[in-house]
Amino acid sequence: MLYNKDTYILAIESSCDDTSASVFKNDKVLANIIANQEVHKQYGGVVPELASRAHQQNIVPVVEAALIKSGISKDQLSAIGFTRGPGLMGSLLVGTSFAKAFSMSLNIPLIEVNHMQGHVLSHFIKDDENKPSPKFPFLCLTVSGGHTQIVLVKSHLEMEVIGETIDDAAGEAFDKSAKLLGLPYPGGPLVDKHAKEGNPNRFEFSHPSVEGFNFSFSGLKTQFLYFIQNEVAKNPHFIEENMNDICASYQNAIISFLLSKLKKAAQKHAIKDIAIAGGVSANSELRKQLTLLGEKMTWNIFIPKFEYCTDNAAMIGITAYYKYLNNQFSELDVTAKARYKI
Ligand code: KG4
Ligand code: ZN
Repeated sequence: MLYNKDTYILAIESSCDDTSASVFKNDKVLANIIANQEVHKQYGGVVPELASRAHQQNIVPVVEAALIKSGISKDQLSAIGFTRGPGLMGSLLVGTSFAKAFSMSLNIPLIEVNHMQGHVLSHFIKDDENKPSPKFPFLCLTVSGGHTQIVLVKSHLEMEVIGETIDDAAGEAFDKSAKLLGLPYPGGPLVDKHAKEGNPNRFEFSHPSVEGFNFSFSGLKTQFLYFIQNEVAKNPHFIEENMNDICASYQNAIISFLLSKLKKAAQKHAIKDIAIAGGVSANSELRKQLTLLGEKMTWNIFIPKFEYCTDNAAMIGITAYYKYLNNQFSELDVTAKARYKI
């Protein structure tokens, strides 16, 4: 019998409101299927109870679709990877329970993955031979709906958070202010769209001063609220008449805050390989400004493909692959963890 040296991993992501499954052959992604949950739009944010119910409905069809797309049968799988946390408990439980049951029925190892580690390792998913990965040590600015971190990445599995938000995440700063403007959830992509047509210098929002490489977005959000209330009191049509400039100016405040801290961290640690990850890294202006800053600072910039910015199982699959190579397996009594540090 031929010894099969290839590793095939099925990975599951269900930490928030996207149900996703991916299949890997070593570090190459063969399938990455994502089912978004439309149900939350009408509530202006993710409703945890509805998210877990939708995961329950989606998980079997999503896994089936990923296996079919990959052309891999479940008997060929070497291990099952899954997001253990951080995230919404009810959502995590669905993916965790499914992964445990599947690994037990196939009698193959189970590998827990930290969602934030997954965002960072999205830079190692191979689906384009010409796209280089960052060299260690590198810095990753991970910006999502739940987190904002600057991570010092020493190896695939060794990471240190050197700065993070002390209150809201960057994605929340986008989404909550977008809601005030009457934009549907999630507002980040819509602010990005309006900002493309707007003047980023029309309105001014000041940065909070926060120690070290940490961030704070709650003050900026309050500033924005008072600004809108004031202007609407003077002119009830202020938002519709100035939507593009409001979005461009507010977005600019978030981005310049993020990049000023990233620059400080890169200088302090003398690091030239700089990456971004997470849902907010899909922002077109952030991508543009990071590229410009990278040219100025002679950094090597790493920006993920759009499909690997927001939550997806491919980032969980690549992390599970590196854990597999390091024999880092989980026991069947592993439990989901809503708060889970890198
Ligand atoms: O990583 P992600 O999918 O989920 C979490 O782990 O939180 O990130 C979702 C966040 C949301 O806040 C969403 O508004 C934001 O990413 N986002 C964006 C853009 N696309 C997604 N924010 C700004 N501009 C975008 N283009
Ligand atoms: Zn995420």
